[in-house]
Amino acid sequence: SALYGQVEFRHVFFGYEEGGEEPVLKDVSFLAKPGETIGILGSTGAGKSSLVNLMPRLYDPTEGSVLVNGVDVKSIPLEELRSQVGIVLQQAVLFGGTIRDNIRYGKPDASQDEIEAAARAAEAHDFIQSFPEGYDTQIGQRGVTLSGGQKQRISIARALLAQPGILILDDSTSAVDLRTEARIRTALRDRLQGSTCFIIAQRISSVADADRILVIEDGRIVAQGNHAELMVSSEVYRDIYES
Ligand code: CTP
Repeated sequence: SALYGQVEFRHVFFGYEEGGEEPVLKDVSFLAKPGETIGILGSTGAGKSSLVNLMPRLYDPTEGSVLVNGVDVKSIPLEELRSQVGIVLQQAVLFGGTIRDNIRYGKPDASQDEIEAAARAAEAHDFIQSFPEGYDTQIGQRGVTLSGGQKQRISIARALLAQPGILILDDSTSAVDLRTEARIRTALRDRLQGSTCFIIAQRISSVADADRILVIEDGRIVAQGNHAELMVSSEVYRDIYES
């Protein structure tokens, strides 16, 4: 449908403790159109993870509403919602087993070709191939130890394989070098035709080519636009750029 991949926040407030201190998100409203790439930029503690965690309902707003494809997420069955909204968490979560099992977690019947295509797009195929057992390499306590950046790339491959209409990368390339990160972004663009993508980052280089960037400060959207627009309109953005 025309709304496939649309996300809307309407006056969202959110706090971790009910009736606690100041809310973590304050009156957040925006509309992400199907197929858009949205960067979410802000300093540590600004509320970026909290914001995206509301989309697959890892938490619910205390006020306001989150809509996916025009429907309040609270009225979408959780399993269906989570098949539409893929999220790669800040701390990559892998389980003991082979690399192949870890990648195909979101699509158990995936073929080797599909698994490899997802791994290539996530810049993971080459290092996986460099292990003597390739995709059958065991990871976890009884297997090889992966670097933080390798774990992140396997998590991205897993998310890509499931081809969600909405994909969220929460600081998912923070442990990957800049050149590899740029290649992953290009591959994502090619692969995610039509999917809406949210990329959370603390550095501007990770989001500069996004269609739109939401600048978050202290739980609010303080500016939005593309890179060129924000360089003109937002002092906060220029400060981050120059730091
Ligand atoms: N917070 C909390 N309980 C949690 C997670 C976060 O109280 N389980 C608080 C944090 O201490 C912070 C605020 O919520 O004050 C926003 O956190 P977060 O959304 O994680 O901010 P980010 O902008 O994502 O920060 P970072 O880049 O460091 O991940």
